[in-house]
Amino acid sequence: MSEELKLNKNLSDEEVYIQLLASSHHLFVEGDKILSGLSNFTAMLKQAFDKISWVGFYFLDGEKLFLGPFQGNTACTEIKMNHGVCGTSAIKREPLIVDDVDKFPGHIVCDSGSKSEIVVPILIENELIGVLDLDSYEYSSFNETDKKYLEELLVVFTKKIDLRKFKII
Ligand code: SME
Repeated sequence: MSEELKLNKNLSDEEVYIQLLASSHHLFVEGDKILSGLSNFTAMLKQAFDKISWVGFYFLDGEKLFLGPFQGNTACTEIKMNHGVCGTSAIKREPLIVDDVDKFPGHIVCDSGSKSEIVVPILIENELIGVLDLDSYEYSSFNETDKKYLEELLVVFTKKIDLRKFKII
């Protein structure tokens, strides 16, 4: 990141996302270290939206997803594919929006205060890299607008920083 992120938060979610996309050229610079970029990506979203209680990455290694950079409370370090919202999104290779996590069979509780969640898989040239996971303490916090813009932000980010080179060890 080359400069401080300045945001007007008295806007609709869509307008905030548009600001983030406009800032992303300065935030994510080719040549940035992958871990630094990932960390700032999570911080950017946490800073932008008060509705987010937790935001972070899980990366695929072998048969499981492993916790990567995040903002929020401590979280589960490993998630099996097909388990929880993250593992289900990863195996289906599609985003999942969960309005009430208690109604999602197999939801993995990392924070009992969490009420809703969105998970967006990260695919580069059809290769599953991992997922981006966002939680909220409110029900139904995430919708199609979040899905659209989170996917767009991930595309911008992964064009600048090649996550295929990131090895979770
Ligand atoms: N709730 C997730 C687990 C990760 S935490 O929310 C950070 C799931 O069910 O996959």
